[in-house]
Amino acid sequence: SHRIMLGPLVAAIDQGTSSTRFLVFNSKTAELLSHHQVEIKQSFPKEGWVEEDPKEILQSVYECMERTCEKLTQLNIDISNIKAIGVTNQRETTLVWDKETGEPLYNAIGKYVDLCTTSYVFVLVWLDLRTQSTVENLINKTPGRNKNHLKHKTGLPISTYFSAVKLRWLMDNVKEVHEAVVSHRAMFGTVDSWLIWCLTGGKSGGVHCTDVTNASRTMLFNIHTMDWDAELFHSSFHCFIVVHLLFDVDNPIKSLLFLHNQCLGDQSAALVGQMCFQDGQAKNTYGTGCFLLRNTGAKPVMSEHGLLTTVAYKLGRDKPACYALEGSVAIAGAVVRWLQDNLGIIGSSEELEKLAASVGTSYGCYFVPAFSGLYAPYWEPSARGIICGLTQFTNKRHLAFAALEAVCFQTREILDAMNQDSGIPLTQLQVDGGMTSNKLLMQLQADILCIPVVKPSMPETTALGAAMAAGAAEGVSVWSLNPDDLSEVTSEKFEPQINPEESEFRYARWKRAVQKSMNWET
Ligand code: G3P
Repeated sequence: SHRIMLGPLVAAIDQGTSSTRFLVFNSKTAELLSHHQVEIKQSFPKEGWVEEDPKEILQSVYECMERTCEKLTQLNIDISNIKAIGVTNQRETTLVWDKETGEPLYNAIGKYVDLCTTSYVFVLVWLDLRTQSTVENLINKTPGRNKNHLKHKTGLPISTYFSAVKLRWLMDNVKEVHEAVVSHRAMFGTVDSWLIWCLTGGKSGGVHCTDVTNASRTMLFNIHTMDWDAELFHSSFHCFIVVHLLFDVDNPIKSLLFLHNQCLGDQSAALVGQMCFQDGQAKNTYGTGCFLLRNTGAKPVMSEHGLLTTVAYKLGRDKPACYALEGSVAIAGAVVRWLQDNLGIIGSSEELEKLAASVGTSYGCYFVPAFSGLYAPYWEPSARGIICGLTQFTNKRHLAFAALEAVCFQTREILDAMNQDSGIPLTQLQVDGGMTSNKLLMQLQADILCIPVVKPSMPETTALGAAMAAGAAEGVSVWSLNPDDLSEVTSEKFEPQINPEESEFRYARWKRAVQKSMNWET
């Protein structure tokens, strides 16, 4: 049959908390040609515990790749035009697996053993709170009980969020992990490492690596030396589990796919996809959580207002690293799933928008979804969700509205912190991610920030960024990272429509609700 001639194509695997996607772009136009998406199940086996099945994650990647390729073939597009595949992923989620059997070492203890009696893969999702006492113990050991004790090296507070504490928990609490570590069979990694290891051959010689953006979320990586930090390893672990950094891997990678620096944590990829290459440029991504990153150029800036310092990207072995300040919000899209699965008051995210729009106000109801404690700017793992301001008049429509407002207020808090740290207020906010299809949310966001909100019409910015990085990588070079080449990118702008006093009033109420979510036990 007749095949359409296109320029080189570049694909991206986007493995997020809630779903996996595989997308194929035309490198000349950045046009999305085909994609496929598969939802990922999350399980909550105990209060505060969040798990996913690593094999399901892997399977979903294969499925997305296969289905996308089928769709391309139906469109008469030759899949051999795919010149590179970028990997982008949910960050911090921690896996330990057995390198000899190729099986992951932990998932939903017990349940997994039934399926697989001889071997294991263990995973703790970034949202998981079971490490709260591990974190408290670590903080208690620091001089002055200072949660920012490691910040000068890692850019991070000691928190349940980051991989090192999850790895510590697995080594202390899961016999199989402990034994595998002692017998040098354990492999540790974030989701990118797991996928790349499996996709490059697994137990028969898969590459065990990660990239610097994912590494910078482990709390084991020194963001100044750009390397694993021996002191951080030795203070927390009695042994080394060596994960190669992608830029150190001496070309053992098996195919054209997965060349150097084709892997980026999802928030870094979104920053690249939004073309935020200049110092001062920022984006906010609304996924399971919500992540505002502001490029700070070649220098890591330490926050005074509860933000993280992280490696934004390093697009090539000889290219300099770029850093970012990051405001991380644990629960954004996850609140929609909670209203749907736990309360059953909506059937879909579209329904949430309709319900909220039908009232246009929360009627004084405030909803702080601190399900996993509070992240930036508070870093308070013991905070818990609250809904306050209820009356007999309140109904699910108001609650729906309050849930959307919660996402906007949380963004306002991290934007304020960002403005205070940088001294130069953002004059508009570039946004992306699944929730940005909710027009009411976007309008509310502009109203609550009192600045315009701008969203690109192609919402898959994370995947686009990973594809761009892969397409521009050394040895591939089919994509230029010149922002002028994508001047065609169209966007939609939401201008603030309420007066700033009204906005400040609601925001002040929100802040009071946040205080209650942190102090509800006392
Ligand atoms: O830090 C967690 C983040 O990488 C997860 O992103 O898109 O799954 O909310 P997302």
